[in-house]
Amino acid sequence: MMKKINHMFLLKNVSFAYEKKKILNNISFSIDHGEFVSIFGRNGSGKSTLAKLLAALVFPQEGNIFVNGTNTQESEKIFDIRRKVGFTFQNPDDQIIAKIVEDEVAFGPENLGIPNPNLCELVNDSLECVGLACQRKKDVNKLSGGDKQKTIFAGSLALGVECIILDEITSMLDTQSRSEVLSQIIRLQKEKKMTIIMLTHHIDEIVLANRVLVLEKGKLIADGKPKEMKKKFFDAYEEMKPKFVKKKTLAS
Ligand SMILES: Nc1ncnc2c1ncn2[C@@H]1O[C@H](COP(=O)(O)OP(=O)(O)OP(=O)(O)O)[C@@H](O)[C@H]1O
Ligand SMILES: [Mg+2]
Repeated sequence: MMKKINHMFLLKNVSFAYEKKKILNNISFSIDHGEFVSIFGRNGSGKSTLAKLLAALVFPQEGNIFVNGTNTQESEKIFDIRRKVGFTFQNPDDQIIAKIVEDEVAFGPENLGIPNPNLCELVNDSLECVGLACQRKKDVNKLSGGDKQKTIFAGSLALGVECIILDEITSMLDTQSRSEVLSQIIRLQKEKKMTIIMLTHHIDEIVLANRVLVLEKGKLIADGKPKEMKKKFFDAYEEMKPKFVKKKTLAS
């Protein structure tokens, strides 16, 4: 019988540098299948770089990363990993390939040779899921940044990934689309047992996750329950509070 691997991700003493600049420093943690984890930290703390390492888009200079038991440095397994892990970039323009929304969503599954009738259904369901069904014939480049991110998100769903990494997906969305997308994410995690990793610098968003990893200057400084993390970091991350939250007074 095949041994079941519990960890979707396992990082052991991972360090990463761009040129000589160290971006991530000796990071170790694991994420189990079906967890909803938020990675929180200031601008430049290394969130996007960490996410790219998890998705095997870049590789550590020190330490190892295992995705579902496979080391990301095993180059012949790279496409297996990328089929399991969907990534929605912070800047969707870097990721869009096709001209029309439905073609963009179909791109991944089409490359896998999924037959046409199933492909149509997959694309439909995925677009429905992100609330873009009525925009399917539109030019992707004419969509708002948030809708471009939703299109890429739909593409990952159509591909049938096990894990979705969302890099600041809500920063380009208005309040209503933000809550719609977040409730879809929560539903996917609950119903499909997907692993969700959400990068954010909005402290109000971390409470949606089951667990929060806090990055500071490339180091993992905390790993815990969202409510505890919010309490602990709420004042330290003053500039990251949502605008509508009033500053605590000394009396309160
Ligand atoms: N391709 C690159 N080449 C060189 N340096 C980079 C590159 N990408 C990121 N960096 C640097 O790495 C550091 C961490 O960047 P990263 O984008 O991972 O942080 P982040 O937490 O996602 O920030 P933000 O909240 O602004 O998205 C920053 O100092 C950034 O300037
Ligand atoms: Mg980033």
